[in-house]
Amino acid sequence: MDPNRISYTELELASLRHRAYAMLDARRVPHVAGCEEEAVCLAGRWGAEPSAAAAAAILHDVTKNLTVEGHMALMLRYGATCSDELLACPKILHAVTGALVAEHEFGMPEEICSAIRWHTTGRPDMTLLEKIIYLADYIEPTRAFDGLDSLRKASYEDLDAALALGMRMSLAEVRRSGAEPYFETEKAYTFYQHAANISE
Ligand SMILES: [Fe+2]
Ligand SMILES: [Fe+2]
Repeated sequence: MDPNRISYTELELASLRHRAYAMLDARRVPHVAGCEEEAVCLAGRWGAEPSAAAAAAILHDVTKNLTVEGHMALMLRYGATCSDELLACPKILHAVTGALVAEHEFGMPEEICSAIRWHTTGRPDMTLLEKIIYLADYIEPTRAFDGLDSLRKASYEDLDAALALGMRMSLAEVRRSGAEPYFETEKAYTFYQHAANISE
């Protein structure tokens, strides 16, 4: 793909699905397809390019199948540094390597790669496409969890409030599991709490 272009034809998206789905565990395909469907709806709602949202969603979990060693090998191959913080949160590795694969193996532009890079943790001051993929991943049609309805509603009413809510839920979930939340999510939560004018 041409890395300077951020809109894709239906034929290009079909070929992207074909390649990306082949890299996934078949059980993950409904989630990825749901994420694409939701990302396109959110793009329509908030004025992003729908085919760019579709492409980012199709690729967002493309390395989810890899072992920690597999992620580290990819980072080594593409010259990315693997920090101790990152290694302490193995669930985030697929966001980092997914972005690397999107760039180096699929020729995706920076805008799409960064949406993949930040889809798990979020970060302060996200781009529109980063916000859309973060939320689409969270609320796509195959998801089911307490609080989903309010997160879905917020996602179509107030993007920053939805991000603050999603990040609060995600931090609570990580803490419940006994793990330490990744520092970027804490920073992002504080940022979007302020951006959406929400008090604790
Ligand atoms: Fe993911
Ligand atoms: Fe996902």
